[in-house]
Amino acid sequence: MRLIEPNSIAVSIWSPPYHVGKKYESSQTYDEWIKMLQDVITLHYSALKPGGFLAINIGDILCFPDESMPRIQANNISMRKCSVSEDDVLNAQKEHPDYNRHQLAKLLGCSEQTIDRRLHGNNIRGGKYATQTRVKLVGGFIEDIAISAGLFPYDRRIWVKDAAWANSNWTSNSYRAVDEFEYVYIFWKPGITKIDRTRLPKEEWTEWGSRAVWNIRSVQRNDDHEAKFPLELPRRIIKLFSDEGDTILDCFMGSGTSAIAAIMENRHYIGIDKEEKYVQLAKRNIDLYSQQATQLRLF
Ligand SMILES: C[S@@+](CC[C@H](N)C(=O)[O-])C[C@H]1O[C@@H](n2cnc3c(N)ncnc32)[C@H](O)[C@@H]1O
Repeated sequence: MRLIEPNSIAVSIWSPPYHVGKKYESSQTYDEWIKMLQDVITLHYSALKPGGFLAINIGDILCFPDESMPRIQANNISMRKCSVSEDDVLNAQKEHPDYNRHQLAKLLGCSEQTIDRRLHGNNIRGGKYATQTRVKLVGGFIEDIAISAGLFPYDRRIWVKDAAWANSNWTSNSYRAVDEFEYVYIFWKPGITKIDRTRLPKEEWTEWGSRAVWNIRSVQRNDDHEAKFPLELPRRIIKLFSDEGDTILDCFMGSGTSAIAAIMENRHYIGIDKEEKYVQLAKRNIDLYSQQATQLRLF
């Protein structure tokens, strides 16, 4: 980021690691992750053109294991395999105040562990519910970091993906909703911003340019990279917030999606990724797209 010419980037569009245990982020602690976001957002102040934009795509609710959190006392009655209830155990205890756990289990036809669970509200041996899931809302702290860096909140779009039921760990064990949308937070660097309503045809303004909610199917085949965003997402940001010939930045480039969107819209691009294999992948994908585009132009 420090090598980028100051005041040169019209739009920076990226999606950082979400701190959810992907391979490329497995060695990073939560504090290191926050520090990385602070550093990268802060460095944008120099890189962006005055009046330019930083667009960050991120899920607003992040979930990760947090040892310091109180244990979740999930008394999940719908997942019980054994029909013995807390009342059954309490009644049996009342009738047989001298019975130990073993005798109560025999009387009710269940395991000693079930007696423990019903009496203490959870698995007292601690194994099953050991991992604490911390739910973190990120919009607030991203805004704080941006403001400290001299960038101001400008807008936000909501990207509605498809509900990933199969991947959801919420549906069976809590009242939480399936995570089916993400945000694109947009920050502005003070300076003159050209407002050009001819950047989009009228129907595109109506369909998405003026709309806060964007329905874009997520990438179904994450075969070469595990967390790609759909091409349409950076393409819309680029079309809306920059002109042909401008330079676009993605400092978490992954498979090269933003670069391809930039080429498609006749912009220059700068891409950064810390994994050499993704740098090579992005280069391959960009070359492939450029070759296909050239062939199409020839025909
Ligand atoms: C969510 S993925 C981005 C995927 C990309 N938008 C695409 O469509 O392919 C995040 C990327 O950031 C990269 N990354 C993680 N930490 C980084 C860092 N400190 N500097 C640069 N890249 C990093 C990862 O290797 C990963 O490719």
